[in-house]
Amino acid sequence: MSILLKLAQMRHSPRAFDGSALTRNDLAEAFEVARLSSSSYNNQPWRFVVGLRGEPGFEAMLQTAVTANQSWMADAGAIIAVLASTVLEKTGETDHAALLGVGMAVGAMELAFTEAGLASMQAGGFDRKECAVRLNLPGHILPVSLLAVGRLPVGHQIPAKQRKSTEAIVFNVGDPIL
Ligand SMILES: Cc1cc2nc3c(=O)[nH]c(=O)nc-3n(C[C@H](O)[C@H](O)[C@H](O)COP(=O)(O)O)c2cc1C
Repeated sequence: MSILLKLAQMRHSPRAFDGSALTRNDLAEAFEVARLSSSSYNNQPWRFVVGLRGEPGFEAMLQTAVTANQSWMADAGAIIAVLASTVLEKTGETDHAALLGVGMAVGAMELAFTEAGLASMQAGGFDRKECAVRLNLPGHILPVSLLAVGRLPVGHQIPAKQRKSTEAIVFNVGDPIL
């Protein structure tokens, strides 16, 4: 089995962390993986704001999450605000592929965290307006998600994946696509 498939099977959204702290060094390799990701026009639309557990930035970002997400995110070692720059730097036009580029970078980061023995989970359930205010974001930088990273609690079990079958997502030309 390929390493990537193995990591894809192991990566999951744990909704539980052990409450231990992380350092910037713990996150460095995943950011390097993100930095090397591909993007439309090589615009590199991903931006990340890091709040390590124990830093004021961690609490600031945690407070923007909806209550249900705060319950598990509070035990993460770091909360990373995932942001998208929506302007093409070369032309000043809108980067219509910005969210795809950010998603690709974060997807690769999550596999890197998994390989490093960490767990991560994204949350779209947060107050984007409040996040933009707290991070003092200019209008062309959009909050996309909060990415919580940490260590799994002792005894944590990886839940079974709930997924569509391959036949339900891969088609031939002429097939009805649902
Ligand atoms: C962009 C994004 C936003 C998400 N937002 C939330 C969220 O706000 N709260 C939550 O409990 N799970 C959230 N999830 C986790 C998904 O529910 C989870 O990825 C999905 O059920 C598949 O499970 P798995 O990640 O364990 O494979 C989010 C996932 C992604 C990729």
